[in-house]
Amino acid sequence: MAIKVNSETKEFHLYNRQVSYIFRVLEKSNQLEHLYFGEKIRHRDSFKHLIEREIRPSCNMFEGDHTSSLEHIKQEYPSFGTTDYRYPAHMITNSIGSQITNYQYHSYQIIPGKPALENLPATYVEDFQEAETLEITLIDEVLESKLILSYTIYANRNVICRNAKFINEGKDSFYINNAMSTSVDFPDDQFEMLHLTGAWAREAHVEGQKISKGIQSIYSARGASSHAHNPFLALKRLDTTEHTGEVYGFSLVYSGNFLGQVEVDTYSVTRVMMGINPFQFKWKLNPNDTFQTPECVMVYSNEGLNGMSQTYHDLYRTRLARGYWRDKERPILINNWEATYFHFNEEKILSIAETARDLGIELFVLDDGWFGKRNDDTSSLGDWFVDKDKLPNGIQGLSEKIDRLGLKFGLWFEPEMVCKDTKLFNDHPDWIIATPNRRASHGRNQFILDFSRQEVVDHIFSLMDDILLTSKISYIKWDMNRYMTETYSQSLDYDQQGEVAHRYILGVYNLYERLIEKYPEILFESCAGGGARFDPGLLYYAPQAWASDNTDAAERLKIQYGTSMVYPLSSIGSHVSAVPNHQVGRMTPIETRANTAYFGTFGYELDITKLSDEEKAKIKTQTAFFKEKRQLIRNGDFYRLLNPFESNEVSWMVVSKDKKEAIVGYYKVLAKPNDKYYRIKLTGLDPDKLYAIEGKETTHYGDELMNVGIVLAEDYTNRASEYWKREKSGDFSSKLFILKEV
Ligand code: GLA
Repeated sequence: MAIKVNSETKEFHLYNRQVSYIFRVLEKSNQLEHLYFGEKIRHRDSFKHLIEREIRPSCNMFEGDHTSSLEHIKQEYPSFGTTDYRYPAHMITNSIGSQITNYQYHSYQIIPGKPALENLPATYVEDFQEAETLEITLIDEVLESKLILSYTIYANRNVICRNAKFINEGKDSFYINNAMSTSVDFPDDQFEMLHLTGAWAREAHVEGQKISKGIQSIYSARGASSHAHNPFLALKRLDTTEHTGEVYGFSLVYSGNFLGQVEVDTYSVTRVMMGINPFQFKWKLNPNDTFQTPECVMVYSNEGLNGMSQTYHDLYRTRLARGYWRDKERPILINNWEATYFHFNEEKILSIAETARDLGIELFVLDDGWFGKRNDDTSSLGDWFVDKDKLPNGIQGLSEKIDRLGLKFGLWFEPEMVCKDTKLFNDHPDWIIATPNRRASHGRNQFILDFSRQEVVDHIFSLMDDILLTSKISYIKWDMNRYMTETYSQSLDYDQQGEVAHRYILGVYNLYERLIEKYPEILFESCAGGGARFDPGLLYYAPQAWASDNTDAAERLKIQYGTSMVYPLSSIGSHVSAVPNHQVGRMTPIETRANTAYFGTFGYELDITKLSDEEKAKIKTQTAFFKEKRQLIRNGDFYRLLNPFESNEVSWMVVSKDKKEAIVGYYKVLAKPNDKYYRIKLTGLDPDKLYAIEGKETTHYGDELMNVGIVLAEDYTNRASEYWKREKSGDFSSKLFILKEV
């Protein structure tokens, strides 16, 4: 890894064995010109030959210089209004109302390692040698402002992390209307844009289309990263597949309103930007204040989408997630939500917990409904006092009993919310996000607390602290079940209302940070009506996230497949639930439900006391199996093999880093009569290793498994010759193949 500076030509080259990122300072205007991002190229003393200039009819910065139009120069952090007509990476309004900026190169510094961001989640290093950071300082003399663009390159990862920091060094305040985390101008437009889209109960569906001239974007203006779009997009070459070809990933370490935008100009240059959504955003920067954007993690892979995903998986699992639980095996949990919803008492909870313990489950999670008078979703959020009618011994008593059963205990909170019928709302009606003299819209019968106010965050901290101090709690499910409307804070001035949504997220991060600091051994799982905040920002605080309220195995194949584009299996909350499934009414075999949920954090969410002995025995086998395999599943390399968005078959696998072990999940969504032959071509194995597949007598070399595949029809040779007599698999069948080097 190196950051090379060609001081004469003022060029910067960040590279490691996999990627190169090159830019330079423009001679006359001292702005930054982008030269290259992609596969590693060797360093040269000058990259002048990469500069492209053409005389085109346009406005130019300098009289007589017909190639000084920024519209025709690829840039690092473009502004609007001085000859570039594309959407800019930043926009500022100064005290006279002007929106022209001119940040010019001033200096650079190279920092070993990677500095933390101010009050924002970010990837990190554990050792200075893991990465190097280049900070470029630019100055706008008229605005009296500094801009620091930060670029980190890791030694052994095909990743560049970027963020930007604005500093007001003048006497007047100014307003930041737009501050992207990254902006890259690619020289051509031969890309498909791929992203994750969805809604409640169908999160992270993979979509893609060839980009075309004009703007295509994904965004959130909902106050959370949202079900609708994950803060991630990838530009892949048209012939790129899961395992071959070029792809660039952009992933924003942020949980609030964001924009991911691709603009193809009329000369086929593609500008990709990602950052806080400028829509509804306006940040007043007072003299001596700084504003830092969230981090964007850009991945370049020439090993297809899977190569990109594996880079994100390793980075996010080991250098974004933190703390006590980062590298630990996560407990198999059981959550009572789909088992009881709001209707439970201590006896019921203990009977589920006891059965769970007997079946090998390790953690019991008490979901919504334990506080206030919450018997449905119309009341009590904010009254974090136990409902003694349901739990006469309180959370303390219940948690101790569960502890005595030999299980860990976890609790659900929705800290950011308040219902009207609570003491909290009564005492502080102005603590909600709402616009004066306007209707405050409802979402699931609740309002959002104004987490942009420190006193609100402090108050919620103390309410949660009271419970955590007195009870034996080792896990928290932190939920968030509505989006923002009528966004306004009564504590901010009229010209700061554009700050509310971002300040709110900073408040959420602040509460997480304080809880983690005080209770470092609590395992947090984030949730937002399922996966509405399944984003890298929250992974910094909560190493696992509930991927979706949809627990149907067939739906989960899609949701988990999509989620795995960016997020490691160690973060994907996945449970076995009851049939008929509560979201879609589908009947799937318990084996398939488990075979799907294993590829995540794994747990259960059903009333196991009602199961037959046969089903209970299966659960016991499943928990034993997962305990044996969870190291492999969380630490191995994950490969997607067959795509649920394209076919009736789905497959994925995990291979241990030493390639000695692997586990393959294979799923057939609908059964087919008189079907074709099937093979599953594996990947990621060592071609020279000989593997045994559990349950099969033959052994196979890695090269055979990766080129010929596992031949499925082989299993049928001894079946009855009359078709109608044969055992049929039924819909939603699945199979696991366990490979071990012999
Ligand atoms: C959300 C969550 C669910 C459950 C309910 C409780 O919908 O996603 O898992 O916790 O809230 O109200």
